[in-house]
Amino acid sequence: MPARENWDTKIGFILAASGSAIGLGNIWKFPFITGQYGGAAFVLTYLICIALIGVPVMLNEFVLGRRTQLNPVGAFKTLAPGTSWFLVGGLGVASGFVILSYYSVVAGWTLGYMFVAISGAFQQFTDSAQAGSFFNSYGGNTFYSLLTHFIFIGMCIFVVIKGIKGGIEKYSKILMPVLLLILIVLVIRGLTLPGAEKGISFLFKPDFTKLNGNTILVALGHAFFTLSLGMGAMVTYGSYLKKDDNLISSAALIVFLDTSIALLAGIAIFTAVFSFNLDPAAGPALIFHVLPAVFPKMPGGYIFGIMFFSLLLIAALTSGISLLEVVISYFVDQKGWSRTKATFIFGSMIALLGVPSALSQGLLADVKIFGMTFFDLMDYMSFKYMLPIGGFLMTIFVAYYWGVKDFINELQSGCPQLTLKPAAAVVLITISSVLILVTLIAGILGIG
Ligand code: PHE
Repeated sequence: MPARENWDTKIGFILAASGSAIGLGNIWKFPFITGQYGGAAFVLTYLICIALIGVPVMLNEFVLGRRTQLNPVGAFKTLAPGTSWFLVGGLGVASGFVILSYYSVVAGWTLGYMFVAISGAFQQFTDSAQAGSFFNSYGGNTFYSLLTHFIFIGMCIFVVIKGIKGGIEKYSKILMPVLLLILIVLVIRGLTLPGAEKGISFLFKPDFTKLNGNTILVALGHAFFTLSLGMGAMVTYGSYLKKDDNLISSAALIVFLDTSIALLAGIAIFTAVFSFNLDPAAGPALIFHVLPAVFPKMPGGYIFGIMFFSLLLIAALTSGISLLEVVISYFVDQKGWSRTKATFIFGSMIALLGVPSALSQGLLADVKIFGMTFFDLMDYMSFKYMLPIGGFLMTIFVAYYWGVKDFINELQSGCPQLTLKPAAAVVLITISSVLILVTLIAGILGIG
């Protein structure tokens, strides 16, 4: 078997891991939940959750990956041989399967919208009702939904097949700077629109009367999803790290980048939404129903529309790649498959699993399982259960089964100046376990 690959450069790893974190979660989900759950008070809660859960859980994942140099299943098999802990890794691989299958449907819409923007069709929208009915007929179209879904998975396969250095790292190094550049242009455009300050105060001036239990739970759950935690994506990316990389500074930088991009996307979107007096609380439809009606109204809107949907597509692609890589690394490491064979076979299986999700806005819109469309079911299962359960078990594993001594040792490799008492590490990790558990139970009870 060929030697296992490593990241070529530290910056390559940082860009790939932040590429995984920065995705539809930042540019599609974060703005709309901020809009729905009351703006700045929500943003503040989210930032606290990121610090309390994000950093410790990400470190856990990096440690498990780099220590074992394996995929999530292999990592648990190595550290806890003869036990059932490997099932936590198995849950992660399954989550990669499930999440990518519907994530790529939304990513497919952004791909389609990029072409719609290029065709100039947005320019005819005079209000968001028109943009909304356009989306309904677009998302409900069997041919386009399937086509763009398949193309997006094809793009992920194309990159993952080339491996770590020549695929994921290489493309992240190109795509992430482009993403940042486009976002900066959009932020400047947003800030220079008349009435932009209303959008800014919506995002940054907290009104604490808007804060309630539900807001906190949504912020907690989102902290998880946006940082790609709970399914071993960061275990997998960490497994390609060398022993002299500093895990702590890497995690801090990735969390910082992810959060900054979400806030910048919020600025770009809400300045525009408020400037044209549209509804910030439009929910999941914000990007697809509301924004296309904004572009025709703003100077240069044609080009900004194209840029916005390209931005979303790039963000989705670097995340989609990481979802697929979790599945592939499992079959390569544990089952000895060649990367090419594993990527083709499992990429295609994920594409097939995504078919009912792609048809959920159209042909299968009336088929409900537990009262949800297939698309909603996949989203619900993974966001509410699979990721939090995975993340919770990983923190328990490190703090109470494997032991924090080894955890601290691994952190010190690449960061020898670190002094962290085992008791302090247990407390820090336990805080995140408890927070995750609360979100999970509230989710089960239907509160969140
Ligand atoms: N973090 C990605 C986003 O914000 C989604 C993701 C979740 C990717 C879990 C990988 C693993 O869009």
